[in-house]
Amino acid sequence: MEKRGQWSSRFIFILAAIGSAVGLGNAWRFPGLAAKHGGGTFLVVYLFAMLAMGIPLLMMEISIARKFRKGAIESMRGIGKRWEPVGWAATSNAFVIVCYYSVVFAWVILMFINSWQFAGMTGNNEAASGLFFELTQTTGAIEGSSIPGIVMLCLMIAWGLIFFCIRNGASSVGKVVKFTVFAPVVLLVIMAVKGCTMPGAMEGLKILFVPDASAFSDPSLWVDAIGQVFYSLSIMMAIMFAYGSYLGDDADVALDAVIIAFSDMAISVLSGIVMFSTMGGTNMLDKVTDSGIATAFIVYPQAIVNLTDIGWFNAVFGAIFYLMLITLAIDSAFSIVEGVSAAIADKFHLKPKTVTIAVCAISGVISMVFITQAGLAWLDIVDNWTNQINLIVIGVLECIAIGWTFNLRKVLNEVNKNAKRFKAPYWWFAASIKFIAPVMLTGLFVWNMVVLFGQNGGSYGGYPIWAQVTAGWVVSALVFLSGFIAKIIVSKKKKKGYVEDEVVWEEK
Ligand code: PHE
Repeated sequence: MEKRGQWSSRFIFILAAIGSAVGLGNAWRFPGLAAKHGGGTFLVVYLFAMLAMGIPLLMMEISIARKFRKGAIESMRGIGKRWEPVGWAATSNAFVIVCYYSVVFAWVILMFINSWQFAGMTGNNEAASGLFFELTQTTGAIEGSSIPGIVMLCLMIAWGLIFFCIRNGASSVGKVVKFTVFAPVVLLVIMAVKGCTMPGAMEGLKILFVPDASAFSDPSLWVDAIGQVFYSLSIMMAIMFAYGSYLGDDADVALDAVIIAFSDMAISVLSGIVMFSTMGGTNMLDKVTDSGIATAFIVYPQAIVNLTDIGWFNAVFGAIFYLMLITLAIDSAFSIVEGVSAAIADKFHLKPKTVTIAVCAISGVISMVFITQAGLAWLDIVDNWTNQINLIVIGVLECIAIGWTFNLRKVLNEVNKNAKRFKAPYWWFAASIKFIAPVMLTGLFVWNMVVLFGQNGGSYGGYPIWAQVTAGWVVSALVFLSGFIAKIIVSKKKKKGYVEDEVVWEEK
């Protein structure tokens, strides 16, 4: 067996985990949700959800994988053989997410390459908001199958970059995150300076920070905040298992998880400042929506062309914005591929690099569905099912497995193993993993089902039902059946001499 790759230092691990956590969700989902839910009110509830659920679950995933030195599938097998399918579900769901996240990444590259076009659009809202549609030729409906050449090229660049970053696992990831974590922060600060010096910026910042007490009464505030915490911290996606499995024995998981979560939140708030100051400065506050893709590709371009009367300046600002999104997205995109390939390589004792190549190739081909003219519609459906249904169910199962069928004290000892200044207390850890997280996630699931079936008659987004069944329900079924399908493969392989690992928690 090859020796398992390890992070070159604690700092690099923290950077890689922050890089994964900080992604497109911070830049365009967080500000939009804050606007929807009374600004400061959302920040408070988000902080609560992070402390009550996000951080303990992050600690749990990292420390379990560090103990077993295995990716998601084998780590869940270590918790109990019957829980292995949960590891498979997390891995398969991550695989599906990779297929479309890479496309959003490609679109960001596409907009970056075309940001010079903003120079000739000063004050022209219609042209600015139409640019994305003109370039991608997307119809927004399940219609059309052609693929524009330039988008194909961007998708290839996207996959090339992703593969380049993870080609050698922890060691190549360690090199790129030194750049990809700091670059977006610098670019955001530059944009925040421009935004905050515009007249009207204060109006925007008020929306972000001043709490609106009446927002507390809307239950969807809680649903959105909890969902955002999970999505943003990259938990339940097989990623933190993979990253934790590359940790050395001396890692201080308790403190590291806290640093990761707060850095992630800080960058979300910084993006919020950029978003709201520029929207305020260009008189567009009424156009802030909670839908991510629309904000980045349709609404924000309008703010870009209204920033100043100087075309080239606006174009440069636009280029900075999309470059910032590229650097934000890349380390999230490759982390999720790494999560999938580490889990599979560990399970089948394969060479990590071979699996990485295979995962990139297969998901690269599948991702082409999302750059067709119907791509945006497919993406919307798949995104909804993977995040609003699969991720939540996986979260509940993981909490039940680890909180109720395994010894949580053992996990906590692992979390606190090298803790010096900050030790996670048992009452907090147990309350979160045994009760708060599974109960709240179940509530979230029920809520989403009530919205889907009760309010919308079982239909999401008005797409044809066959499309929702294929890209939504069938994909979800495959995600949860993948562990059982894998069992069949394993039993066939066993006949050829493959021996399954016994993953055991050794007390030293
Ligand atoms: N944490 C990421 C974000 O906020 C979410 C993510 C990570 C999604 C990795 C996909 C893959 O954007």
